[in-house]
Amino acid sequence: LNEGWLGGTRGSFIKGGREQLVVLLEHGLDFQSVVLDVGCGCLRGSRWVIPLLDRGHFFGIEPQRAMVERGLREFVDPEIVRLKEPRFDHNDRFDFSVFDTTFTHFMMRSIWSHASKQQIEVMLDNVVEWGQPGAVLLTSYHPAREGWADYRGADWQGRSHVSERPAAVAHAFEWIQAACETRGLDVRAVDRPPLAEDDQVWLAVKKPGELPVQLPPRKDAPASRE
Ligand SMILES: C[S@@+](CC[C@H](N)C(=O)[O-])C[C@H]1O[C@@H](n2cnc3c(N)ncnc32)[C@H](O)[C@@H]1O
Repeated sequence: LNEGWLGGTRGSFIKGGREQLVVLLEHGLDFQSVVLDVGCGCLRGSRWVIPLLDRGHFFGIEPQRAMVERGLREFVDPEIVRLKEPRFDHNDRFDFSVFDTTFTHFMMRSIWSHASKQQIEVMLDNVVEWGQPGAVLLTSYHPAREGWADYRGADWQGRSHVSERPAAVAHAFEWIQAACETRGLDVRAVDRPPLAEDDQVWLAVKKPGELPVQLPPRKDAPASRE
């Protein structure tokens, strides 16, 4: 299915990928961060992220196994793959427990723009369960508006491991906000212009707490005061 598909338009491959790195960096990405890319496709975004992270700190979920294989073959330097040991799972249940680790960052680019409300709720439950204190979920979506109704269906719409039909859905921000609030998560818009190619806007969903910040030791202070 979907042979040759890059996960978005060809024209957005570089820009849409780098955008994911920029948004992660703006939300505290560090070498020690532990990143889960949900629906990582052929690594359009994570090809920029994997080289930055410490070994064993990158995880991806993607039911289209061939897309991940292509990404690792064509879009990431083989030496980087060997050094960084990214791990992948191919479940389609948004099951984040499979890696038996907790995450600082969740990336969901062009995922909520296809997912049903039930699927978004599963993702949010898993962010609560598998996110470290202060963990951030970065997700892009189409806000519901006049002419594009809030999606009420139960299924994923668009290309996937079971469909070759392009489609996208919109969600009302108010619904997303309520779904986050009931789980103790904070949600706010990220101030980045939408890409011309797909017109999605970013949201940052945050778990309470703070991510660790690693500062180098101060050279000018005596060790006892560090
Ligand atoms: C529009 S693409 C975006 C891919 C990638 N995030 C990017 O920015 O290039 C949506 C991706 O979600 C994947 N997907 C579909 N159903 C899924 C599910 N149930 N769980 C996880 N990923 C799924 C698709 O196979 C596809 O790779």
